[in-house]
Amino acid sequence: MRILRKRHGGVVVASVLALALSGAPAAWAADQDPPPRVANGLAKTPPMGWNSWNKFACTIDEQTVRRMADAMASNGMKDAGYQYVVIDDCWHGPRDAGGFITYDAKRFPSGIKALSDYVHAKGLKFGIYSDAGRLTCGGRPGSQGHEFQDAKTYADWGVDYLKYDWCSTGTRNAEEAYTLMADALRETGRDIVFSMCEWGTAKPWLWADKVGNLWRTTGDITDKWDGKHGYSLGVLPILDANEPLHPFAGPGHWNDPDMLEVGNGGLTDTEYRAHFSLWALMAAPLIAGNDIANMDEATRAILLNTDVIAVNQDPLGVQGRRVRDDGDLEVWSKPLADGGRAVILFNRGAAPQTIAVNWTELGYPASLKAEVRDLWARTSLGKMKERFAAPVASHGVVMVTVKP
Ligand code: GLA
Repeated sequence: MRILRKRHGGVVVASVLALALSGAPAAWAADQDPPPRVANGLAKTPPMGWNSWNKFACTIDEQTVRRMADAMASNGMKDAGYQYVVIDDCWHGPRDAGGFITYDAKRFPSGIKALSDYVHAKGLKFGIYSDAGRLTCGGRPGSQGHEFQDAKTYADWGVDYLKYDWCSTGTRNAEEAYTLMADALRETGRDIVFSMCEWGTAKPWLWADKVGNLWRTTGDITDKWDGKHGYSLGVLPILDANEPLHPFAGPGHWNDPDMLEVGNGGLTDTEYRAHFSLWALMAAPLIAGNDIANMDEATRAILLNTDVIAVNQDPLGVQGRRVRDDGDLEVWSKPLADGGRAVILFNRGAAPQTIAVNWTELGYPASLKAEVRDLWARTSLGKMKERFAAPVASHGVVMVTVKP
């Protein structure tokens, strides 16, 4: 049996998986934890990078990808930790006579290997996209029946990250399908982060930590604050679906509430700051989804806030969670490796409101003196006891660290 460890705030979430049935060695005493189940030892902190889909969808081509790599390497993003340049759907050509996948020679005339070399020469890593079904969501050839061939092709091209989607899978079993591709990737001997895009349908948080490094927990994000828009969801419903899954995330295996919309124009800067802050605190992958070669100052200041990024990349690797829900007013907390907490005061309401957090809600004694730093004002607020309170804009956050 596997019991997930007691987490911050005294909440015990026990996910009991029948490891006995899955062939785990029988040598542990009953009071011992089983050895950790790891996929491949990669992504010890949430992956950071850029992906083509949210902004470019199927209009992606090699020039655009090169421009994004140039931008990431020179605009501060690389120094801030962004690393993976990932082409999403629609790079594919047909399969050749031997069944190997080719690329769209109109959009990628130099070929995927040359593009990967270009990205690597910038000191960055290269990612690509496929699908566990016969066709990708954009109708290009999927990997079903070609898993080992495709993994070999990706490794030959120098791929460091694979996003693997779930369209056209019919009655396939998700765990089986993702495990098959994970085996194929492992067989190549190359380190390839495995991003599973199954939308949460088969509850991947219950089984995917031994298969890959991140799994989507919801349908697709769209550049809107709230609501459902066709198959896509605004920021708030994704946030609320991803939050309760916090016990299942940890180093090497992350809940993925989908890529960032920061900078795509559908939200206010205040809302984008909230989106970025909450994703960072949930230890979500920070995959920019905008045109990073053409960012205004506000967008740049959000994506390049290294204080907020440090919370996301904290080596303890705990997904933060909501510790208080007063309707429109919420307090979120994430324990950090140094014993501190990252805290978000979040106002969903239509008017500005003051929100307070008590130390006891963070698992600290009220008498504790702790240093409070405002991560958006980027200033220290000094030592405080008992509580911290601040006015919070409508749809906004105040994000601080509280360090004893
Ligand atoms: C699905 C995925 C998206 C994107 C598209 C591409 O909808 O969830 O993230 O990869 O397919 O077609």
